Amino acid sequence: MNVFVTRLIPTTGLKLMVDAGIVVNQWKEPYDVPADELIQICKEHDALISVGQDKIDKNFLTACSHLKVIAQMAVGFDNIDLIEASKLRIPIGNTPGVLSRATADVSFMLMLMVSRMATFMYRKILDGKWGFYDPTANLGVELYGKTLGIYGLGKIGLEMAQKCSNAFGMNIIYHNRNPSLLADRSLGAKFVSFESLLGRSDVLSVHSALTEETKNKFTLECFSKMKPTAIFINTARGSIHNERDLTEALRSKMIWGAGLDVTNPEPMQASNPLLMMPNVVILPHIGSATIETRGEMSRLAAENIIAASRGIKIPYLVNPSAYS
Ligand code: GLV
Repeated sequence: MNVFVTRLIPTTGLKLMVDAGIVVNQWKEPYDVPADELIQICKEHDALISVGQDKIDKNFLTACSHLKVIAQMAVGFDNIDLIEASKLRIPIGNTPGVLSRATADVSFMLMLMVSRMATFMYRKILDGKWGFYDPTANLGVELYGKTLGIYGLGKIGLEMAQKCSNAFGMNIIYHNRNPSLLADRSLGAKFVSFESLLGRSDVLSVHSALTEETKNKFTLECFSKMKPTAIFINTARGSIHNERDLTEALRSKMIWGAGLDVTNPEPMQASNPLLMMPNVVILPHIGSATIETRGEMSRLAAENIIAASRGIKIPYLVNPSAYS
């Protein structure tokens, strides 16, 4: 079996595959594999590890229907046409669980950074504007006892809720497709309607997958229903909020601030006005970017490939119907 990997990845996963007798070829260029080239390369391979946002659409899948497995080295798989993959009986794997803590750390960090305008303050020093002490200037907001609203309470949302409850005694409300008994019992979290999430959250943190239902969910109309003191955090996918509307909501002080680890498009242009706003903090999609987590993600991706090479069901499967 040979596998093509669309980026250089940590050695944890590479070693597992090599030890299992799999030939591994990696894309070494500092740009995405062009779509046509990816098809040509995959024609010479039995399996694919997709890293980043490779477009695994109908065109790709039809041309590469021979693939025994596609292992996404990420938890999100919105870049993959799952229905088409299942029709072609190609199992798709992802890397669930191992990145929940690291990603929630970034949500938590963004919340704090926005609440104290950390990057704006840092820029002031760089600009030589650390002036005399003015007790009425540079004032942030505190988080103690405030209400955290989670949009999409899966593993990452639950981690964020736990941190906020432990650190600041925040009250947790959430909106999901279904209520979560675990969150209700362990955190006293309350399932609320989307409208109520908008109206009641002091911090609204997005943790849902990107789907047809969640795409462009947070528009100007939504921001207008939020508190003028609210902080909006998104570490899930940039297309879940409307970036132009968010900019307008911040400009007109409809909401207090925003922290984004994901933007639309990515990378964000350096000239984007959001980058210069005092109550905004932007990071370049680094939710899972720790040595430990990226090592684990490569391990899970490798385990999916190894299972397929042995003709057994892959352990981190997202489309069970590929096997039915
Ligand atoms: C990162 O965005 C992931 O989906 O793992």
